Amino acid sequence: MHNISCIGILTSGGDSPGMNAAIRAVARTAIFNGIAVKGIMRGYKGLIAGEVRLLTTRDVSNIIQQGGTMLKSARSEEFRTAEGRQRAAETMRREGIDALVVIGGDGSLSGARIFAAEYDIPAVGIPGTIDNDLYGTDMTIGYDTALNTIVEAVDKIRDTASSHERIFFVEVMGRDAGFLALYGAVASGAEAAIIPEIAAETDQFGELLTTGFRSTKNSSIVLVAESELTGGAIGLAERVRREYPQYDVRVTILGHIQRGGSPTAADRILASRMGEAAVNALLEGQRNVMVGIADDRLVYVPLVKAIGKSKLIDHNVLETIKILSI
Ligand code: F6P
Repeated sequence: MHNISCIGILTSGGDSPGMNAAIRAVARTAIFNGIAVKGIMRGYKGLIAGEVRLLTTRDVSNIIQQGGTMLKSARSEEFRTAEGRQRAAETMRREGIDALVVIGGDGSLSGARIFAAEYDIPAVGIPGTIDNDLYGTDMTIGYDTALNTIVEAVDKIRDTASSHERIFFVEVMGRDAGFLALYGAVASGAEAAIIPEIAAETDQFGELLTTGFRSTKNSSIVLVAESELTGGAIGLAERVRREYPQYDVRVTILGHIQRGGSPTAADRILASRMGEAAVNALLEGQRNVMVGIADDRLVYVPLVKAIGKSKLIDHNVLETIKILSI
């Protein structure tokens, strides 16, 4: 049995397509179970400021297909302080919120873990980030949509790269995680992916050059994960210009376009399943877990594990890219 009568829900950190579908699923599952649900605006900032409103089933109508987040999002410095979290706890008490569902990435779920422990609040996380860097779930909400955006962009870049016989370094997001670069490269047929996970052990760029970069082709596309460890697309292009002036090089930084747009079917399904599971987790008495889907099964991952362990990339995929781009 549970003693939850009102669940608070917020989205925090970088938004990701599918967050709205998750909000809808949480709100409707809670209401279906006779529990009130309150939407907290602007993430932890709104929790501190008391920006809260009751959500009805109709409030979450017509949002499953929309990118962004109807609850808005923010990164809150104040929530990192004990005073900030105390004010947030006061809002929870004042609003009669007994449990919290947090949709966000590693920073947001770290905040949830600390807050839940300090104030003995049942909190459940839903992985919402395009980076796909949370441990314990195969996919995070927004990752699939971002991948599709990358593929669409690279398809277009390939047309001009091939016409002008150029090398393009295309920088994708990921904040020190290479999933978008790696699988974006496979899906777009790029010649290589440069990712931070192996930057310390392998000179990927050096390898790329020695294994005959452009030896069989007149144009190349290299996906580069944004990170100091990879040098970024600009850094790599500068290196080519310096060391191989015979190549015609261009850079495209995809940037925030990757965070927007209508979520793919895969992200809507993921968000809907996870949103329902988050409420069920609270009703079952689970606390301080992140909902995940691994091998197509719903799992509850302790928050500390989800944020603390690094999710490994499959090194074989780099080999796949190499073989398929000969
Ligand atoms: O974590 C999501 C993400 O999009 C990262 O891939 C990127 O590094 C970061 O957020 C960008 O953050 P901001 O929108 O604050 O510039």
